[in-house]
Amino acid sequence: MLSTGVRALVTGAASGLGRATAERIVASGGKAVILDLPSSNGADVAQSLGSSCHFIAADITSEEQVQEAMAFAHKNLGAPLNTVVNCAGIAPAIRTFHPKRGPHDLDAFTKALMVNTVGTFNVCRLAVPEMLKNEIEGDATRGVLINTASIAGYEGQVGQVAYASSKGAIIGMTLPMARDLAKSQIRVMTIAPGLFLTPLLEGLGEKVCNELGSTIPYPNRLGNPSEFALTVEQIINNPLLNGSVIRLDGAARLP
Ligand SMILES: NC(=O)c1ccc[n+]([C@@H]2O[C@H](COP(=O)([O-])OP(=O)(O)OC[C@H]3O[C@@H](n4cnc5c(N)ncnc54)[C@H](O)[C@@H]3O)[C@@H](O)[C@H]2O)c1
Repeated sequence: MLSTGVRALVTGAASGLGRATAERIVASGGKAVILDLPSSNGADVAQSLGSSCHFIAADITSEEQVQEAMAFAHKNLGAPLNTVVNCAGIAPAIRTFHPKRGPHDLDAFTKALMVNTVGTFNVCRLAVPEMLKNEIEGDATRGVLINTASIAGYEGQVGQVAYASSKGAIIGMTLPMARDLAKSQIRVMTIAPGLFLTPLLEGLGEKVCNELGSTIPYPNRLGNPSEFALTVEQIINNPLLNGSVIRLDGAARLP
């Protein structure tokens, strides 16, 4: 189980993988701040998790809003945060060139990189000064930054050129960021999920979800968001996990 000392900021936690992560942290005795868009139901989610969970509406691409979120987290967690889990993300599906629609819309490509890559980096960099306020003994972890990529970052499918690029960049930033922050005793890890049953996939309907699940070697089903949250917990608890990307996919390889 997570130590009760976890003070986490979880982005994108109004839904899916982030929500499951916030739930696990709070259920294990930790505290969590949910950061999600103003249009999300983050306030309801935080309320459902009780007094150890708080919601702040913010866009991860905004320097100002994320700065405010850090101050909010410090105040509501009762101490500087020691955990960040970046789950906020978007998944556009557009081809590089479509015979009828023409070239990929450039704004859509830029937006995917802005939200998934720049937003993730923005939260990480602004969390560091907060984590540095934590007093620790010896070689203990001062903080851990956990980012979410995707197996599409390795083997993106048709229509995933923007998404795969943005996730590949998250995979790529993992090691240099861990090296940058090593002397500060802050660890950096990335989880590359396969296919998980979240509202994102549920929207495709039960039949499509079953079909997608049947393509996964073992376990022969979609991942459960609680299994993502379990991996977050394992990363938090294992001090040797640093600078790596964990594929969490039941041996799935995107065709
Ligand atoms: N579900 C899967 O199968 C799967 C697989 C691989 C990777 N992932 C990745 O995991 C992460 C979470 O996915 P999910 O399935 O839980 O998705 P989801 O759509 O259920 O949740 C994503 C959350 O991010 C929030 N968000 C989007 N843009 C934001 C912004 N600019 N600022 C703040 N919040 C923002 C949304 O409001 C939403 O609540 C995403 O990065 C996704 O790419 C998911």
